[in-house]
Amino acid sequence: MGLLDGKVAIITGAGRGIGREEALLLAGEGATIVVNDVGAAVTGEGGDVSPAQEVVDTITAAGGTASVNGDDISTWAGAKSVVDQAVESYGGLDILVNNAGILRDKMSFNMDESDWDDVIRVHLKGHFAPTHFAAVYWRNKSKSGEPTSGRIINTSSEAGLYGNAGQANYSAAKAGIASMTWVLARELERYGVTVNAIAPRARTRMTENLFGEMASKKGDGFDEWDPKNIAQLIGFLVTDEAADVNGQIFVIFGGNIYAMGGFHPIGEVHRDHAWSPQELIEAKADLFKGIDSGIPKFSFF
Ligand SMILES: NC(=O)c1ccc[n+]([C@@H]2O[C@H](COP(=O)([O-])OP(=O)(O)OC[C@H]3O[C@@H](n4cnc5c(N)ncnc54)[C@H](O)[C@@H]3O)[C@@H](O)[C@H]2O)c1
Repeated sequence: MGLLDGKVAIITGAGRGIGREEALLLAGEGATIVVNDVGAAVTGEGGDVSPAQEVVDTITAAGGTASVNGDDISTWAGAKSVVDQAVESYGGLDILVNNAGILRDKMSFNMDESDWDDVIRVHLKGHFAPTHFAAVYWRNKSKSGEPTSGRIINTSSEAGLYGNAGQANYSAAKAGIASMTWVLARELERYGVTVNAIAPRARTRMTENLFGEMASKKGDGFDEWDPKNIAQLIGFLVTDEAADVNGQIFVIFGGNIYAMGGFHPIGEVHRDHAWSPQELIEAKADLFKGIDSGIPKFSFF
């Protein structure tokens, strides 16, 4: 008996890295998996379905059920195709893990238009487009009177929560994914669908240059950079037992899981009419009383 017996899951970008481990874990808990991956380079160029096929082969060799989907989830047609594949091949959809991503890190003054457009497209539209078609499916199911339960897991990043120099495109997309998670949670709750997000840290090809030696496996002890650690949290969030966890964003790293709070005021001034610029110069010390008015230092990394 697995925790996810009888459920059907789509995982985007599941040919390697974190998505691969999520696919293997959910399959190990009994879910049928559509393994989506275009097989692009880390920067988004090219395509090769062999990584997705390797994941499907690993799942089926272990007795599970899975199929490859090589569509680009950042297109409307590709996103529809992956949702249709789950529904038509396996009779429904229970879980959507939006995970696919690319990286084109550059300082703002070096970034060109395609670096901006492609990263925003793959992450932000690549999260929204499959979500749209899954939401249509779950809403129709619910309106037809069938009991409905859905799970969406989005993949944000600490770069989106705190802002990271050199990642204007990526951080903007990941911040958009975080706020979109709250919107979707509010919209889909009435149909029995929860929407949560993770901001992971793990050793993959995407982070090998960023984290370098710090993320290397050390000895035989617990490997806190192993992407398998991330998959465990996903495994929990998609269970029936997590039906009351909704609109949450989790930073996860090794054995550390942080439930993150949203924006809240850190300083304030009030009165019953508008402030002029000159008055705000004079009120600045009150607005920032006890706090630094420079760039926020939120990261606990
Ligand atoms: N590794 C980390 O520490 C870390 C940190 C924060 C966020 N993330 C996020 O986690 C997710 C997974 O990243 P990873 O580290 O496993 O990277 P990865 O490069 O190993 O995996 C990403 C996968 O997405 C696929 N992909 C890219 N564009 C696609 C598209 N248009 N359609 C379908 N598939 C596509 C790629 O082919 C690749 O297999 C990404 O969203 C990433 O931004 C990772």
